[in-house]
Amino acid sequence: MITGGARGIGLGVARQLAAAGFDLTLTGTRPEEEVRKILDELRATGGEVLYMHGNVALEEDCRAWITKTVEKFGRLDVLVNNAGIAPRMRADLLETTEASLDEVFAVNVKGTFFMSQAAAWQMVSQGEGIIINISSVSASVSSPNRPEYCMSKAAVGMMTTLFADRLAADGVRVYEIRPGVIRTDMTVGVTEKYDRLLARGEFPIARWGLPEDIGKAVVAFATGAFPYSTGEVVRVDGGFHLRRL
Ligand code: NAI
Repeated sequence: MITGGARGIGLGVARQLAAAGFDLTLTGTRPEEEVRKILDELRATGGEVLYMHGNVALEEDCRAWITKTVEKFGRLDVLVNNAGIAPRMRADLLETTEASLDEVFAVNVKGTFFMSQAAAWQMVSQGEGIIINISSVSASVSSPNRPEYCMSKAAVGMMTTLFADRLAADGVRVYEIRPGVIRTDMTVGVTEKYDRLLARGEFPIARWGLPEDIGKAVVAFATGAFPYSTGEVVRVDGGFHLRRL
């Protein structure tokens, strides 16, 4: 199950998981008619694909998505908490509004928390499961012009720790992927800025990240390649986190 799975990073994850033989549940904000082409493409790989739209910031939607997934497939093996938003406008932290902070936290923090909680009940009852949180390098890198985003992603980092700790004895493992700069709709508005950073050599692997780069890391976790690890964070950021002298 991938939240926000019909575009951007979520779609990159869906494509990789479909190729690895997973049946999929995708959630998103758009009605099914608008994503039908994408669903057809994913179904052509042979697996089943269930799509549901709603709002991840509402706990009742989170619960309903899990319930319907289990009704259809009988179980839930993997949850990828991918749905997330940036602030509508970047603004210096001295200008951050209450509305913007509430909006970003509702999706990125509350949504990730209650999706994980709803999935955890199901996975605990199965005695196994894997939760993968898509956070961001912004969990630890400062951008004072979007503090609500950075703080929300830092909160997702603690969520990884909390759920990993609480669920380890129940057979559920929890991982986190921290993407760097990935080419999606979210980064369209800052293309020039990131192109400049790339040209300046800020990224050791000197190219934009692609949704499939995240998808490949998800497949490694989802297929059980780390059976004796939980609470782990993997950066998929072209080495952006490396410090240089
Ligand atoms: P995107 O804007 O292309 O996709 C976001 C997805 O989240 C969409 O599928 C959308 O339907 C879903 N979504 C947003 N609000 C929702 C809501 N209220 N209810 C249900 N679904 C909702 O963004 P992108 O780039 O694919 O980002 C995916 C995740 O990766 C986000 O959590 C983002 O913070 C994170 N990320 C992205 C980076 C990038 O450079 N693009 C870098 C680091 C992290």
